[in-house]
Amino acid sequence: MSIDLNGQRVLVVGAAGGIGRAAAEAFSQAGGVVTAAGRTEASVETVAQSIGGEAAQLDFLDNNAIELFFADRPFFDHVVVTAASTLAGSVANLPLDDAKAAMESKFWGAYRIARAAKVNEGGSITFISGVLSQRPSATSVLQGAINAALEALGRGLALERAPIRVNTVSPGLIDTPLHDRMSVEARRALYERMRSTLPVGRMGQPEDVAQAILFVATNLFATGSTVSVDGGGRIA
Ligand SMILES: NC(=O)c1ccc[n+]([C@@H]2O[C@H](COP(=O)([O-])OP(=O)(O)OC[C@H]3O[C@@H](n4cnc5c(N)ncnc54)[C@H](OP(=O)(O)O)[C@@H]3O)[C@@H](O)[C@H]2O)c1
Repeated sequence: MSIDLNGQRVLVVGAAGGIGRAAAEAFSQAGGVVTAAGRTEASVETVAQSIGGEAAQLDFLDNNAIELFFADRPFFDHVVVTAASTLAGSVANLPLDDAKAAMESKFWGAYRIARAAKVNEGGSITFISGVLSQRPSATSVLQGAINAALEALGRGLALERAPIRVNTVSPGLIDTPLHDRMSVEARRALYERMRSTLPVGRMGQPEDVAQAILFVATNLFATGSTVSVDGGGRIA
């Protein structure tokens, strides 16, 4: 059964990123009218142009800007938050200010968007968490905690905002610009380790996650869900 959004209005916050761009493309291909939002308009301009959508500057750290953004626009049918900026590091070594900034970004950013978002009845809000919420890593403890908080936020908001549906998609390691800050060698080694340990035998791609986002956004019986798309990373 193919999905036909038939002109439904979709907002992707973080559309310049790997998963955000793939989500914007997937919603557009399914017939949605997509607003691609990012920290700078320039960063989302090419995405918006390629899908024939709107480019919008929206910094999800800025609550006033978020409220103005929604005040100026008609209701959306689907809101997807893929934006995040979180430095990794162990609890012992990551400076406390960086740890708090990570929570301020990924958790509170999504919270601010969900709080202000004007969404039509029967529409949806989708968050992106990550496999670390269930399968912790000794060097990314904070990421796991942020992801778990986001999943709990999604479950609670599914009750508070009903009949708007709220879901979370939890990816495993995905090949996106998020990993550009690693050296080429370190990234290649990490990806190779994933290919050899994951049951699916390959790295995750942004399109794998976008497909799951489109699924939870459009399945009218899905709410309060956390959908894993991790190549089996939770169980391997
Ligand atoms: N890739 C993975 O392996 C993986 C695994 C598990 C979970 N996830 C989660 O999936 C989500 C998307 O990740 P990704 O891989 O697509 O990351 P990405 O390629 O780094 O994209 C993240 C995007 O968020 C934007 N952003 C950051 N701060 C922002 C702000 N204040 N306002 C608006 N936009 C902001 C970034 O814009 P700038 O370029 O301007 O900073 C960037 O375009 C994140 O929550 C990430 O934690 C990713």
